[in-house]
Amino acid sequence: MNWVYIEDIGKHVGEEIAVRGWVYNLRSSGKIKFLIVRDGTGVIQCVVTRHDSEQAFGEIDRLTQESSVIVHGVAREEGRAPGGYELTVSRIEIVSVAESYPITPKEHGVDFLLNKRHLWLRSSRQHSVLRVRAEVMKACRDYLDGQGFIEVTAPIFTPSASEGTTTLFETRYFDGSAYLSQSGQLYNEAAAMAFGRVYCFGPTFRAEKSKTRRHLTEFWMLEPEMAYADLETVFEISEGLVAYVVGRVLENRRRELEVLERDVALLERIAPPFGRMSYDEALENLRAMGFDVDWGSDLGAEEETVLSKSFDRPTFIHDYPAEAKSFYMEPTPGNERTVRCTDLIAPEGVGEIIGGSERISDLALLEKRIDQHGLPREAFEWYLDLRKYGSVPHAGFGLGLERTVAWICGIKHIREAMPFPRMIHRVYP
Ligand code: 4AD
Ligand code: MG
Repeated sequence: MNWVYIEDIGKHVGEEIAVRGWVYNLRSSGKIKFLIVRDGTGVIQCVVTRHDSEQAFGEIDRLTQESSVIVHGVAREEGRAPGGYELTVSRIEIVSVAESYPITPKEHGVDFLLNKRHLWLRSSRQHSVLRVRAEVMKACRDYLDGQGFIEVTAPIFTPSASEGTTTLFETRYFDGSAYLSQSGQLYNEAAAMAFGRVYCFGPTFRAEKSKTRRHLTEFWMLEPEMAYADLETVFEISEGLVAYVVGRVLENRRRELEVLERDVALLERIAPPFGRMSYDEALENLRAMGFDVDWGSDLGAEEETVLSKSFDRPTFIHDYPAEAKSFYMEPTPGNERTVRCTDLIAPEGVGEIIGGSERISDLALLEKRIDQHGLPREAFEWYLDLRKYGSVPHAGFGLGLERTVAWICGIKHIREAMPFPRMIHRVYP
């Protein structure tokens, strides 16, 4: 059997081939029956007539939506068919006839679809989002590998918090307990002192009680960390990364962006340099737009959304108040009240997709911060060692994968950017 993937069909025009997939759609106009088959790489229209195959013409009537099927026939160019090719069918092999499929073209509620997420993945929009996600993941790695970074992995079971204790998931660990990692950063700092430039990329966990369109309890984060680096390096690497990733999706996933009806002109504009503004300037802008934010508090989802809508490009907000941020951030020189950190705010109302900072390299200051934040010193002894044995200025950031994918795809809620999303009220399927 000359089996080919639908995406490669153009190389087999005129040949007798087989496509293995699932029934996407069926149409009949009496003498001629159309079977649309998808195989994960694309869809193809298969044309069935009694003249070409008595067998196929009979078998096709047993098929239902999502039945699995192997279709044999000759590939032809056909401009009017979806995908540009069609198959003149010579034989149909039915692998499994599907029961009545629960997802139909009518509108379903999101809860229904999330309960059927294991099937919903097959629909063209969801399929497109996840193909973009895979491209983003690959592009992230390609970009950083090209910049001389080494990929390391950070543990998921950890002894302590890195991003504050309020969103920690505690889990039993034999006779004691452990926490699911909120970020691989602290381990990356150790790895950066060993390798210079590193990144980790994997799932992270936060017990987010907020039910918003941008919070998951399990999400993926890409975290680069660099020794002998400062906030300026974070700006450069992160804008280079984001522009590269967007460019790769435009290059390799156009068809998917079309399915998603994404306005690609907005993505084509994404190029360095991104905007920059201090936290103080952001507050001034917000006040001018009628939002009164007290100096000292972090920017919430609502503030980020309005700021984001006022930007025409991704924009870094930097030097936030120390009290709003994590314990490990380096103070701003000449201003003890703020820290050298930045959030990258994506445009179109999307909000924060990256958080990064310079890390404290001074042992005494770091010890003081661990105390001030009420963190258990014993759990951080290993981390403090990094400041005892060759401490250097270093910096890094974390990019939220699902938020980035949701932005690039132009989807409102990040749950669709995750194959099997976990949220406060959902751990099924
Ligand atoms: O800003 P955050 O909390 O930064 C850190 O965790 C740092 N330790 C990263 C580092 O410097 N290595 O998280 C980074 C990014 C956010 O900008 C956001 O995109 C994403 O992770 N994120 C979430 N995405 C989905 N659901 C959540 N609950 C998220 N929390 C953070
Ligand atoms: Mg953040």
